[in-house]
Amino acid sequence: MSGNIVYYSTYGSTKQYAEILAQKLQWPLYSWKEAKSRTLIHSDIVVMASNIRIGKLKIRKWARKHRGILRDKALYVLAVGANAPDEQDYYIETAMKSLDFLDLKRENIFGLGGIKHLSELKRTDAFLFRVLDKIIREGTMEREILLDADHFNPQDLNPVVMHIKRTFIRNKNKETP
Ligand SMILES: Cc1cc2nc3c(=O)[nH]c(=O)nc-3n(C[C@H](O)[C@H](O)[C@H](O)COP(=O)(O)O)c2cc1C
Repeated sequence: MSGNIVYYSTYGSTKQYAEILAQKLQWPLYSWKEAKSRTLIHSDIVVMASNIRIGKLKIRKWARKHRGILRDKALYVLAVGANAPDEQDYYIETAMKSLDFLDLKRENIFGLGGIKHLSELKRTDAFLFRVLDKIIREGTMEREILLDADHFNPQDLNPVVMHIKRTFIRNKNKETP
């Protein structure tokens, strides 16, 4: 049994989580740009780590393109967003909806808190937030979306590592006659 980790990160929090996970599991790590079907061909497990943007996992497009090869793998998802990590239902629903073309198990999806600093946003994102600000002023959306968030906590990866190792060992045992 072997695994790969593929990540999509814009501002770095997802990349950091993916790097720590790769180190803990001793599995190779690829950004979505590097990860081709041939990269994944010999692995039994794929962890997709992705940031969330306007309710969707950014890795969605990559996953859809590679859904043929992903279908044969045990899949785990790390969804990284500005919501608090105790809002696991939000993270799980977001991942299930974004990746509805894959056969995901709810227990293999983990929400992790990322970082959002409005002052550090790239130009298009800053523009988007200015538009959101206007919509909020007109009273159709919650103001919370415009606040900075920092829920980044590498300790939140510990249960993820334990869960992956547990299922990994179980599957490995199934292989030995
Ligand atoms: C344009 C934009 C839209 C976002 N939309 C969401 C969202 O819908 N839900 C959420 O939980 N976080 C949302 N976030 C917060 C990011 O997911 C969060 O900052 C995350 O840490 C980014 O990961 P990264 O650092 O790997 O890019 C959004 C951030 C930006 C810039």
